[in-house]
Amino acid sequence: MCILQALVGAGNETTTKSFSAMLVDLATHPTEWEALKADPDRAALVVEESLRLSTPSQGLFRVAKVDAEVGGVPIPAGSKIFLAYTAANRDPAKFPEPNAFIPDRENVRDHMAFGGGVHFCIGAPLSRLESVIALEKIVERWNTIEVTNAQGDPAEWPLRYEPSFVLRGLESLHLRITC
Ligand code: HEM
Repeated sequence: MCILQALVGAGNETTTKSFSAMLVDLATHPTEWEALKADPDRAALVVEESLRLSTPSQGLFRVAKVDAEVGGVPIPAGSKIFLAYTAANRDPAKFPEPNAFIPDRENVRDHMAFGGGVHFCIGAPLSRLESVIALEKIVERWNTIEVTNAQGDPAEWPLRYEPSFVLRGLESLHLRITC
């Protein structure tokens, strides 16, 4: 039961947050929305780039087991560290134009949204599959997509994020779609 609870907990909010962020990424990048509608096979690329740009799990804590150094910063054994996956995902040395939404990046899958090493997300394949299938269905049925405020009016930037240090997710999302 505990394993089941962990899987449901770790797999539910993360995918919900990632998928809603992906819809915002597409709504705010009409060229990518049109490209996806013209070629639904691009769904996997869009999912990866959105995971990188709008990383739901911002980071997690670790304790250094040995003395280490990262980027010239000494990390003594026993230090508590916040590993910011989201910062790694916007490293300009790894991802040129890191703040841009570019699903055609050559290394689009090389992000850290699912962590890395022995604790790499066990649900990554499931989450990727869910998002790709849902996105393929959406572009098949929706013609246009637009972010609005709660009254349904298009607004400049009506989005508010939950006040969490670890998880990045919208408080609510209102979209206007045409089919
Ligand atoms: C977009 C969706 C998801 C994101 C962004 C995400 C993110 C992450 C990250 C960053 C880690 C690494 C934690 C660490 O470094 O300690 C992780 C681990 C984990 N995830 Fe996910 N996850 C997602 C979906 C899922 C799903 C769908 C499941 C289950 C069905 C799941 C289950 C787990 C579990 C059990 C771990 C712990 C693995 C371990 O410590 O060995 N995740 N996830």
